[in-house]
Amino acid sequence: MHKLIYLDNAATSFPKPPGVTEAIVHFMTEVGANPGRSGHALAREAEAIVRNTREGLARLFNIPDPGRIVFTLNVTEAINTVLFGFLDDGDHVVTTAMDHNAVLRPLEYLRKKGAVTVDIAPADRQGFVDLDALKRSLKTKTRLVVVNHASNVCGTLQDIQAIREIIGEIPLLVDTAQTAGCYPIDVIRDGIDFLAFTGHKGLMGPQGTGGLYLREDLSLRPLKRGGTGTLSESLDQPDFLPDALESGTQNNVGIAGLGAGVDFILETGVETILRHERELTARLLKGLRGLTGVTIYGPLDPERQTSTVSITFDSILPGGEDHPLGGCGAINLAWTEEGPLPSEAGKLLNGRFDILVRVGLHCAPLAHKALGTFPDGTIRLGMGYFNTREEIDMVIRAIRAIVEGDL
Ligand SMILES: Cc1ncc(COP(=O)(O)O)c(C=O)c1O
Repeated sequence: MHKLIYLDNAATSFPKPPGVTEAIVHFMTEVGANPGRSGHALAREAEAIVRNTREGLARLFNIPDPGRIVFTLNVTEAINTVLFGFLDDGDHVVTTAMDHNAVLRPLEYLRKKGAVTVDIAPADRQGFVDLDALKRSLKTKTRLVVVNHASNVCGTLQDIQAIREIIGEIPLLVDTAQTAGCYPIDVIRDGIDFLAFTGHKGLMGPQGTGGLYLREDLSLRPLKRGGTGTLSESLDQPDFLPDALESGTQNNVGIAGLGAGVDFILETGVETILRHERELTARLLKGLRGLTGVTIYGPLDPERQTSTVSITFDSILPGGEDHPLGGCGAINLAWTEEGPLPSEAGKLLNGRFDILVRVGLHCAPLAHKALGTFPDGTIRLGMGYFNTREEIDMVIRAIRAIVEGDL
């Protein structure tokens, strides 16, 4: 059978590093116990595994106290934990057009309920948030700023340090779904108060893992209350971390796998991962720029984006290096011959070329509005650390075949 080319790493990374499956199997076959619930040998071993994952994440993000990291099911749960646990009635929140529905939907729910008011800072055609508009939207009542670190649609990286400077002391929640593990993040240097991460993308762990870091003097009302294995004599939820926000038995099997993913990243080095992904991005962008009939969205610059690239087949601009923006934001003229819609092109890539991509709106409708690709969306090519140059060349050849109708 033809080898599949997995280009859906922005949805979830695949394959995982070798140690991840081993760690999961080890937990299931050799450990099995519930950490923090019993004092016996296997419970202590399970506790050590969970501690190792917390410590690895703390090293990766330069978090001084690993105890300030709580595990969640995914980044969606981490974001919800902040939005429902931090905001009070009457608060004002600022987020951005590049944010994911994981942020926009809970905020819309709170807004419609009349609990909070929300401003959404716009983004330009390359997906960069308008920082002047963000600054203008700040009010005395602004209690939280929520920012997507990198777009899951077109990879655009936001300047977190610049945003921190603009917003002063207002708490900042950063959704690092697309950057954790593949881009350097330092909560101190970057001024991040709440860091929400998912375990199954760049962190290379299994699905069903994620977490949240909270700066030292911040606290949240828990989304869930219940058993924590600590202070069992009290009917009140413990108020110390991580227990305050970790009720019930966690996905400890997954956390064991996540720990192995994080260990792999720490051993390999985020810089090495970033270098490889930038090389692949540069190669893909160069190959696609040469193709008339392909619109590329995003910064078109490996230094200013992740290894996620979005395209459509409807460019009116000629290809080539002298068009630094490629087809980004191209306007469809009436006489333009229509290329295949993203859904059709996606089917061709997935079905005929065994290139696995995701098409559509990628749970980020406002980002597509900013890019001018709403409502049809784009074809998203999400590269990861385990993709190779050869695979990228095959992808470029397949896309060329689609534009040239050579099927
Ligand atoms: C930017 C961004 N935020 C949030 C999410 C939600 O991730 P999860 O499904 O792991 O909660 C994703 C993943 O699709 C994402 O790319």
